[in-house]
Amino acid sequence: MSDLLTVNGLSRRFSDGGLFRKRKVFHAVSDVSFTLKRGQILGVVGESGCGKSTLARLVLRLINPSAGQVQFDGVDMASLSRTDMRRLRQRMQLVFQDPYSAIDPRYSIRDALLEPYRVQGVKPKSTDDTVSSLLDMVGLNGSLAASYPHQLSGGQKQRVGIARALALNPSLVVLDEPTASLDVSVQAQIVSLLERLRQELGLTYLFISHDLGLVRYFCDQILVMYLGRIVEVLPSDAAPAHPYTRALLDSTFEPDPKRRRSITRLGGEIPSGYDLPPGCAFANRCPRVTDLCRRVLPTLTTQGSGHQAACHHPLAAVPEVVEQRSVA
Ligand SMILES: Nc1ncnc2c1ncn2[C@@H]1O[C@H](COP(=O)(O)OP(=O)(O)OP(=O)(O)O)[C@@H](O)[C@H]1O
Ligand code: SF4
Ligand SMILES: [Mg+2]
Repeated sequence: MSDLLTVNGLSRRFSDGGLFRKRKVFHAVSDVSFTLKRGQILGVVGESGCGKSTLARLVLRLINPSAGQVQFDGVDMASLSRTDMRRLRQRMQLVFQDPYSAIDPRYSIRDALLEPYRVQGVKPKSTDDTVSSLLDMVGLNGSLAASYPHQLSGGQKQRVGIARALALNPSLVVLDEPTASLDVSVQAQIVSLLERLRQELGLTYLFISHDLGLVRYFCDQILVMYLGRIVEVLPSDAAPAHPYTRALLDSTFEPDPKRRRSITRLGGEIPSGYDLPPGCAFANRCPRVTDLCRRVLPTLTTQGSGHQAACHHPLAAVPEVVEQRSVA
């Protein structure tokens, strides 16, 4: 499989302050590198505020990086003219977390589905056929074309969001928490729809979620982010080597909520992105912390095939059984 997306040293800082206040710099994404192969699903997981959506916007070039490169299908996106960039955007699409905000409430579903064509200046052969085949592709009845977003359920709206993203035949779809606002049973339906579409259309996904259990089930490879940095890259069936990934996993897989070891019970505040510590950013919450951790920033080191962790004292590998992905 060839590489579709290559991200190298990607960083994004946001500045605060100005004329009368000292300017402060917030490190939202720091030195992120990864490769996504054609046809694969790469999961990005981490707690709220760790930089997942910022990374998505950087990959799609909706915002500019402070440093680093993104190559899509061998092309450095920074080298593209505005026109070439617009053309390339057809091949990389975003599905939002909130299907309510993604669709203009004044648009009928038909108009919402035809919007990507209008934006790109592309004329479909037959608008009626295009709308009904897009609805059919995501398992919706053609009669919904005349409806308005408020008449649809959350799951139906997310299906429309997915159909819109697929309208222009993209290669890469960035899914930013696509199931987070849905009920558990609807989440499962959307995940199996995404898997079916990936297989049928040969799509490549960057799948963002705060739910490590879901990401392990759905994705081939996982990036774990903490305070803007990748702390672990692992195949979805590998046992975590980083204590943060371990804690995320423990907080996900305990079915009894009373016994669930919440990530917050690790203790310690998450440091501010304005004032990052010199060593490991997880040090004040980590049960394995040593003086070395507080002083020296750990870099990603190999733990196994396709597996790296940024930790001075990684956990020993213990094989784990992970449910295999399947299409319902
Ligand atoms: N335009 C901006 N200006 C300043 N700070 C920003 C900006 N955009 C994002 N941030 C900050 O960067 C950090 C990362 O935000 P981001 O939305 O990427 O996190 P996230 O992992 O997607 O969180 P969530 O799971 O809640 O969606 C947050 O602390 C956020 O406040
Ligand atoms: S480097 Fe140290 S503090 Fe950071 S995760 Fe590893 S053991 Fe914990
Ligand atoms: Mg987000």
